[in-house]
Amino acid sequence: MRYSDLGHWSARAGEWATRYYATLKDRPVRSNSVPGEFAALIPSMPPELPEPMENIFADFERLVPDAMTHWQHPRFLAYFPANAAPASILAEHLANSMSCNCMLWQASPAASELEGRMIEWLRGAVGLPSHFTGLIHDTATTATICAVLTMRERTLRWAGNSQGLQGQNTIRIYASGENHSSIDKAVRIAGIGDRNLLKIPTNENLAMNPDKLRIAIGRDIDAGLQPAGVVICVGGTANGACDNVAEIIKVAKSFDLYCHVDAAWAGSAMICPEFRNIWKGVEGADSLVMNPHKWIGAQLDCSIQFLSDPGPQRKTLGLRPEYLETDTEFEVVDYSEMTIPLGRRFRALKLWFVLRAYGLEGLRTMMRNHVAWVRKVERMFRDDPEFEVISSSPLALFAFRFNPGNGDPDELTRRLCNLINDDGRIFLTRASCRGSTVIRVAAGTFECTEDDVMQAYLVTKELSATLGAAG
Ligand SMILES: Cc1ncc(COP(=O)(O)O)c(C=O)c1O
Repeated sequence: MRYSDLGHWSARAGEWATRYYATLKDRPVRSNSVPGEFAALIPSMPPELPEPMENIFADFERLVPDAMTHWQHPRFLAYFPANAAPASILAEHLANSMSCNCMLWQASPAASELEGRMIEWLRGAVGLPSHFTGLIHDTATTATICAVLTMRERTLRWAGNSQGLQGQNTIRIYASGENHSSIDKAVRIAGIGDRNLLKIPTNENLAMNPDKLRIAIGRDIDAGLQPAGVVICVGGTANGACDNVAEIIKVAKSFDLYCHVDAAWAGSAMICPEFRNIWKGVEGADSLVMNPHKWIGAQLDCSIQFLSDPGPQRKTLGLRPEYLETDTEFEVVDYSEMTIPLGRRFRALKLWFVLRAYGLEGLRTMMRNHVAWVRKVERMFRDDPEFEVISSSPLALFAFRFNPGNGDPDELTRRLCNLINDDGRIFLTRASCRGSTVIRVAAGTFECTEDDVMQAYLVTKELSATLGAAG
């Protein structure tokens, strides 16, 4: 295949995509593929000689889609969404066509400058003050690793970078147990260690208890340990838990600790002013991550980290050998100096396309619908005596369990979740909350409708009848 064939094959891919989306509702949401089944269809060695694209494309159509779980399916109600707007899919096609490495300003000026502009657009859209700048990472995990590394180095006065961690004071990081596992991963990668990530107990509402945070930090100081930062949860993965951002920042700042807010999922909803009370006080944070790839439709991968001062992160992660110098008399931003990889994709393009193609108002309407429909389906579960709603969030997420009164609710809930996902009409995932096994319902795909979300109750109720009767 040659570059001159791209027009033909892009058109074929476009036709395939249009058909895929037109018939997506007819597919089971979660693939019923069993482990090893797909790999067995692929030869164990690569071909020595070129194959015609016609054959490769035909194999894709024949083999791949049936062995995928369909994240854009309107009845994908599992995990958190990773929604992809059609305008984003188009922008990715264009970015992929140019295939540039956006590591430095000089390496792709439009990409660097559009990234800056998109950070400004999003900053205003979610109501953050103008002192925040930032960058676009691949994922929230990367943003959090960058923030935790910055916490470490800032508190060590960058001695970890220059001398290594051996012989340094023991760093302590604080978060609640409602945070995502990416915080645990960041702490490991930063060489801080699991036991130095203190999981501060939460209150009844699943928010970190600020008094317990203050006591834990004080104890650590008395013990000669070195508190470095707090990771604040806004929209926890299992239950949508939100810390009281203002109160936690107040405690952290009284000890001069660095504050990173993980709003990977909930952050997108902050384009709707009426939801912003869940992160009240966020303007005091040093760092904050939100994923437009979860709910704004700028598909994976697109995660924004806002920084109140990019200096400490740049000092932690930036390196500038001569081969990476941009020779210009003007001031330019080289975003790779604030993250881990050098190579960077052109992620700003899809945000630009999405924000223009739907407008903030179009995106708000989509999210408000998701939230209203999830609230409605949550009420259906609440009104049914066989189900218990165990956690609820102000956004498009809640969790329930099946408790018909004739068996172990954890076991019944697990079996019900498997039945639902084997059935294929909807896809839901499990979590644990307040000591119970729960099933989460989270809506957010781009074209899901009220009827799609209602299926969460209707399908669950239908399938639970067999389970309840069997005991
Ligand atoms: C609250 C929260 N933080 C972080 C992450 C990790 O996101 P990513 O896949 O972008 O690393 C998730 C993933 O769902 C999440 O829910």
